[in-house]
Amino acid sequence: MTANLTIEPHGSTLINCFDNNPAESLKEAKSFTAITVTKRVLCDIEMFAIGAFSPLNGFTGKKDYESIVEKMQLANGLIWPIPITLQVNKETYEKVKSQSKIALKDESGEIVAILNLKEIYQPDLKKEAELVYKTTDLSHPAVKNIFEGGEYYLAGDIKVLKSTYDEFPEYNLGCKKTREIFKEKGWNQIVAFQTRNPVHRAHEYLLKVALETVDGLMLHPTMGETKGDDIPANIRMKCYHEILDKYFPKNRTLLCIMPASMRYGGPREAILHAIIRKNYGCTHFIVGRDHAGVGNYYGTYDAQKIFSEFKPNELGITLLFFEHSFFCKVCNEMASFKTCPHDASNHMILSGTKVREMLRNGEIPPVEFTRPEIAKILIESMRSKVPL
Ligand code: ADX
Repeated sequence: MTANLTIEPHGSTLINCFDNNPAESLKEAKSFTAITVTKRVLCDIEMFAIGAFSPLNGFTGKKDYESIVEKMQLANGLIWPIPITLQVNKETYEKVKSQSKIALKDESGEIVAILNLKEIYQPDLKKEAELVYKTTDLSHPAVKNIFEGGEYYLAGDIKVLKSTYDEFPEYNLGCKKTREIFKEKGWNQIVAFQTRNPVHRAHEYLLKVALETVDGLMLHPTMGETKGDDIPANIRMKCYHEILDKYFPKNRTLLCIMPASMRYGGPREAILHAIIRKNYGCTHFIVGRDHAGVGNYYGTYDAQKIFSEFKPNELGITLLFFEHSFFCKVCNEMASFKTCPHDASNHMILSGTKVREMLRNGEIPPVEFTRPEIAKILIESMRSKVPL
């Protein structure tokens, strides 16, 4: 155990956007102009509420937006890589433009938050796509979302009346709670692992190597919206339990979820992911190959290289960079390009697409790629017609 290294939230203050008196605020909000927001926006609202986006307490205003897009900083200079925006079309803009408070409703029509509308602006979406996502190709999920989401951004702080993410409530701990848990457990150095996949052997290898040098591991899967061909959250959750129960020491791990949606923003999203985990109280963050990537938009290690644009310690969380890891048949163990002297013909590397294809055909992927217990859960989910 090392000296106490309790980590400060990003920008120093942990934000809590939950309303102190939601019943009273709800009565008031019923008289406000209301708009219905998407599931993605509900995830962002939850992230503001629980402090995961600290120091942000609402949707990005124009000055911050331009600074984030161009310089990966808030207007005050603090590192921030991706604007968190509330995008609306012209029709909604006309409805809200003269209002100062807006009720935000979920798809069932329930008011879940109040936006103090400070500003409305028209973003340069092409520039945002080019600089943030490095492409204007509509096949990129986030680029498609922003190009189809409308011409206006509404900005301002929010008050959240109820949790806007209702799956796995006992694992949606929020940043204050995880910090308390780390303290109770006496963990000073905690490594966070972001994932949107079931844990396979390469993931497990990174986690175990990292765990050698810190006190605890926070396994922190993204559980908001993912793309259609990613494995559904409830199936992944079963896999996380199985892998932690069978292959990790119980007193060194914490499983909790990140109620955010994937943006597939590669390098910039890696920075966002690191900041979020800093807010949860983690001191270390793993970035492997093609972190938060999709298609071929980013180079294999771009999500590591981007951190060299910051001054040492500027981000305030230690990054653990990993090379591509795999099972090497000669070493007869997990290894990586950094540690293995044997050539690629000895390496067992399977793509996610190939694995999904095998599972669909009822074939168990090799144990060197995935633990049989995990393969079993995935195959059973296939049989019960959950799409993989
Ligand atoms: S991600 O979108 O959340 O990045 P995924 O769940 O596949 O996707 O990856 C989680 C983390 O593990 C990321 O940091 C990623 O870079 C890393 N990673 C995944 N597979 C490997 C691998 N074979 N070798 C090294 N790092 C990997």
